Amino acid sequence: MATEPIPLADSVTLRVLIVDDEISVRKVMAAVLAQLGFPCETAASGEEALRILETHKIDAVISDLQMPGISGMELLIKVRQSYPQIVFLMITGVDDIRVGVEAMRQGADDYLVKPLQVDANIVLSSLTRALHVKRLEQEVENYRHHLEEIVAEQTQQLREALHRIERSYDHTLEVLGAAIDLRDGPTAGHSRRVFLYSIEIAKGMGGLEDQMRNIAMGAWLHDIGKLAIPDAILLKPASLTDEEREIMQRHVQIGYDLVKGIPFLADAAEIIFAHHERCDGSGYPRGLKTQKIPIGARIFAVADTFDAMTSDRPYRRALPFEASREVIARGAGKRYDSHVAKVFLSIPDETWKAIRAETAAIQGFAFATANDIQATSKPAKSGDG
Ligand SMILES: [Fe+2]
Repeated sequence: MATEPIPLADSVTLRVLIVDDEISVRKVMAAVLAQLGFPCETAASGEEALRILETHKIDAVISDLQMPGISGMELLIKVRQSYPQIVFLMITGVDDIRVGVEAMRQGADDYLVKPLQVDANIVLSSLTRALHVKRLEQEVENYRHHLEEIVAEQTQQLREALHRIERSYDHTLEVLGAAIDLRDGPTAGHSRRVFLYSIEIAKGMGGLEDQMRNIAMGAWLHDIGKLAIPDAILLKPASLTDEEREIMQRHVQIGYDLVKGIPFLADAAEIIFAHHERCDGSGYPRGLKTQKIPIGARIFAVADTFDAMTSDRPYRRALPFEASREVIARGAGKRYDSHVAKVFLSIPDETWKAIRAETAAIQGFAFATANDIQATSKPAKSGDG
């Protein structure tokens, strides 16, 4: 094991623990270490060594292999488990070289061979080499830790950037929704109301947390295709002709085509496409029946009907909530999904009144705020209804 000693830096003070049941060996080793300038502790057994390790700052352990009680190998294993940073040198007998190699397999940094006609240079060489390796390991560990900090910091920056982008999307969608409502003058605030009604019903249904944002976006943008319908048809005060009705109904396809290419709105686009479908197949454009209609569109159908009946129209006043509830109750299992209708009917009028009061204050400039949209991404709290 003789190698050239590696000089220790001047600033290094290596605190060494000598463990050996033979007092003569402890004395010799202590003398050698004193000669090298290292402060040291001594222990007559593995048990005593563990007690010292608990209370003293130790940088290196030099332990005999064969001791009564806890053997050197057992001590090595315990030290490696609890103090992986401590340098561990095993002292073996002449015939124990293979055991010394085994000790290194178990995590010893080096081994010294008895009888210790102890050469200070050999001990110094072993200690400094082991310390050097430990320092390299520590540097690698520090570097890894530093890298983890950099990755964590950059991940946080990325998360914040994504959040800002998401907010930008939501602000853009707010403007789009407001534009839809402004275009369709007589139904001012309609998009915002059905957006809020749909969220309320979806929360009441439970289990739709993952789809909440899509449902909200689908309701919010359901009539986006109306932006392409001529004013003469969209705002016509009289009944539409068959040809005009056919043009009007194109808003579903137009809206779908507008939105489907936006990846984060792909599911909302399906709701836009199906928002005039009815469970009995009487809707358009495809005449889909219950299970073929996305759940968001089934929820929207109830919210939309409720809003249409409880809002003033140029040709009639708003119907009372009770009358609107009856229409939806009668249509449950026919035009409307029975479970959606049941959940809707279980929600108290106060909830709908609160939403109407809020949206009435906004009138024609109704639009959802980014906070509303963000809130739909969060799971509904238990007890939300
Ligand atoms: Fe529509």
